[in-house]
This record gives sequence, structure tokens and C-alpha cells, in this order.
Amino acid sequence: MDTDGLLERARDALLSCHCPYSGFRVAAVLEDAEGGFHSGVNVENASYGLSMCAERVALFKAVSEGIRDFRGMLVHSPDGKAMPCGACRQVLYELCPPEMPVAVVFEGKSETLTVAELLPEAFELRGSGP
Ligand code: THU
Repeated sequence: MDTDGLLERARDALLSCHCPYSGFRVAAVLEDAEGGFHSGVNVENASYGLSMCAERVALFKAVSEGIRDFRGMLVHSPDGKAMPCGACRQVLYELCPPEMPVAVVFEGKSETLTVAELLPEAFELRGSGP
């Protein structure tokens, strides 16, 4: 996983965060098998439950562009420790390999967990469709 490349892109992406309600900026960047990068930021809404986390924005952007083979994700906030929420962990589990590293960068520190470590005993329902 190209952690330096991912962090540089996460810092750039932070400019696009839409978080007028929490003021908590988060950027997530995925690296794919070809070395491509896919960024996402949190996008909040006045109807709070409609807000979307940076991790899922990055994943859904990439999948909707036909990318399915992911090698790593980095999550970064300059406002605190942005650990993936439960919903994002479930989506990560379905779309990424269980051994894929997810690095959380905060206050100059980095903590890395695999997708499987983030969601033990995950629910799976893998169909044969597209
Ligand atoms: N948030 C993320 O986008 N990712 C995380 O890992 C933690 C939280 C967002 C959701 C919401 O827009 C804001 O941060 C505060 O919870």
C-alpha cells in the first residue's frame, strides 16, 4: 500500500468535505490493483441521517467506475481520529479483501487494521449476480 501517496491525496481531498453540521472533516482514499487512487470525503445533509461517510463515498465512486480490486484504504481527518463506522465496515467487508489494510491517520500517528479485524463475524450474503 502506497501510504505516502494515499495520505497526500487524502489531504488534497479534504478541501471538498461538506460538513457544515459536525465541522469534522474526513477524507478516505482507496488504492486499486493497478495503482489507481479513488478519493472520497464526508458529505453531510440537514436531514442528518442522509449524510455519507468519506469511506463509502470513495468505495461507491470506485465501484461505479468499474473498479473492484482494491489493495488498501487510508482514512484521514485533521479534526480527530476518524475510525470507520459500523456501516462503512460492513460495506468495506463486502467490497474489499478481508486482509486489505485500512490505515487511520490522525495527529501524526497511523493505526492500521485489516478489513476482517474491523468487522469480525461479518454477515455475508454473496450472490452470483453482478
Ligand atoms: N465520518 C466519516 O466520514 N468517516 C469516519 O471514519 C468517521 C466519521 C464523518 C461522518 C460525519 O460527517 C462526521 O464525520 C462526524 O461524524
